[in-house]
Amino acid sequence: MKIDVILGLQWGDEGKGKIVDYLATQYDIVARFQGGPNAGHTLKFDGKKYVLHTVPSGIFRPNLMNLIGNGVVIDPITLKKEIQNLEAANVNYHDRLLVAKKAHLILPTHRYLDAASEASKGKDKIGSTLKGIGPTYMDKTGRNGLRVGDIFHESFHSRYEALKEKHLKLAKIYGDIEFDLKAEEEAWFESLATLRSLKAVDGEWYINNALKSGKKILAEGAQGSMLDIDYGTYPFVTSSNTITAGVCTGLGVAPHKIGEVIGITKAYCTRVGGGPFPTELTGDVGEKLRKEGMEFGATTGRPRRCGWIDLPQLKYTIMLNGVTQLVITKIDILNIFETIQAGTQYLINGEQTDQLPYDVCVEEIKPVWEPIKGWHSNLNDVSSFEELPTEAKEFIQFVERHLEVPVTMISNGPERKSLIVKELEAVS
Ligand code: GDP
Ligand code: IMO
Ligand code: MG
Repeated sequence: MKIDVILGLQWGDEGKGKIVDYLATQYDIVARFQGGPNAGHTLKFDGKKYVLHTVPSGIFRPNLMNLIGNGVVIDPITLKKEIQNLEAANVNYHDRLLVAKKAHLILPTHRYLDAASEASKGKDKIGSTLKGIGPTYMDKTGRNGLRVGDIFHESFHSRYEALKEKHLKLAKIYGDIEFDLKAEEEAWFESLATLRSLKAVDGEWYINNALKSGKKILAEGAQGSMLDIDYGTYPFVTSSNTITAGVCTGLGVAPHKIGEVIGITKAYCTRVGGGPFPTELTGDVGEKLRKEGMEFGATTGRPRRCGWIDLPQLKYTIMLNGVTQLVITKIDILNIFETIQAGTQYLINGEQTDQLPYDVCVEEIKPVWEPIKGWHSNLNDVSSFEELPTEAKEFIQFVERHLEVPVTMISNGPERKSLIVKELEAVS
């Protein structure tokens, strides 16, 4: 068997949680492969809304297993809160939620360093979610980190203290910030009991044995490809590989085991935090998109920056990920527009190109717009591609033509049931 992948093709918040939750019933295991509680994946069903940060989005579907893979960084405090929410919703998670022993832990002082480092950057700040992601991955690659498997060892406490002391020394290079370390540590150690109560596994063996025995696995990405540490809009990125390659390192699977790669894009584009965004709309239209799309962060509540769909950007991330099928979400947000625009090329120094330049942060990029007639009607009751208004079909075909990847699903509302499945048989 091969492992299928779902990931975001823009700057995050494309609707990954909703699509994973929808597709999960076709799989035996859903596994998160990178990122941490900087993610906020929203699921809506039966009139209720749930936001997951660390727990895979397959957890609400009965019978399937959910793995927090080794590429994920875990804050036990956030995980405990998520688990309390699952308990409140009567979700039977205990035997269905596994944690990879090699996943790294976010310490309170990682969050402290994240906040102090951001504060010291002033106007150049990245706009981090301040969840400690950057410092934790720094300790991972710097070979100093603590992992889930370590919490069961006698030396854990002393290793924690040593790492904390190192962090406090490091923090002196930044200015002081408000942070109640004592209270945060207390909560952190308390929450370790919840983490200890979950089944810790050798994730790479678990996944490979499952594939061998014919189990169907879906890998769930966090953030978006434009936030990838290597290929995103550096330095305005996160600290992990958010692209398909991250599935191999984040779960321990070989490249030839990758099956379908399902890339998700909104019908427009958003970004939260700092950094370049070529098709951003700062005026009334951007405001309209934000209002209609309720574009406020699921993790931080911050307003998201909004703009039209950016086709060169999507071509780039489709290439990086080897996307085999596309999902377009939030098409209903475009209902209100008489004309929709798509950025089809970039104008850089008077030259047209569809290739992102080396330094997206420095170059002045102007999108070349192509107008598309809007459908200007409500899509609430549409449940098949055929029922879509002609203009909406044309919009989708326009995107497919430019990106040369088939669109297999179109999401027309936040609820689980609001999904138009075009070619589900394409999913392996
Ligand atoms: P994720 O991080 O990729 O899982 O996405 P988020 O949960 O951060 O943000 C997506 C937001 O859009 C959530 O509030 C979803 O409930 C909502 N959403 C997802 N798909 C649709 C859709 O097709 N239409 C509308 N109106 N909202 C959607
Ligand atoms: P999901 O999985 C959108 C952004 C932050 C910031 C940058 C670095 O919900 O799509 P970090 O906390 O990682 O140091 O922040 O990345 N960011 C996200 N934006 N969705 C996310 O996750 C994000 N996770 C991080 O806003 O600009
Ligand atoms: Mg999100």
